[in-house]
Amino acid sequence: MMTKLDVNGAVVEVDARPGESLLSVLRGGLGLRGAKEACGRGECGACTVLLDGVPVMSCVLLVEEAEHRRVTTPEGLAEEQRELRRAFAEEGGFQCGFCTPGQIVRACALLDEAPRMSDQELRRAMSGNICRCTGYTQIIAAIRRAAAQREAAGDEAASRAAGGRT
Ligand code: FES
Ligand code: FES
Repeated sequence: MMTKLDVNGAVVEVDARPGESLLSVLRGGLGLRGAKEACGRGECGACTVLLDGVPVMSCVLLVEEAEHRRVTTPEGLAEEQRELRRAFAEEGGFQCGFCTPGQIVRACALLDEAPRMSDQELRRAMSGNICRCTGYTQIIAAIRRAAAQREAAGDEAASRAAGGRT
């Protein structure tokens, strides 16, 4: 079954089996191994990708459900992830690293809102992504750090632009 997908900004055609998951196509046919396979049942978040900017579990999404939608995998978020990866390292937000791509994809989608969210809201928003190593405190701290850095960078850029207008 030929299926057209928009993955990380490129339109690709893949030959998928009926009922095949998006994760299987991404990791198999397309060789994008950033999204991980763990439970395969939509319970752990290791396979998280963005569909039209919204985090989804790609192991339980049929590939045809992703047709005509924008799919973004960890590989497609290289730029956006930079500050999050650094913050995860600084806060001890990963150990084995298996869950980290999924955590970071979900966190990317939250980063703009994170400064206005309470810890409880942030934990709830991240609750679909399970980590067996770290405990979640470090992950939440990493997201807060990256969000604060992003805000500070935005403020700096805005004040430079304002200075340039005088
Ligand atoms: S592998 Fe998809 S949710 Fe666990
Ligand atoms: S760092 Fe090992 S499962 Fe999260």
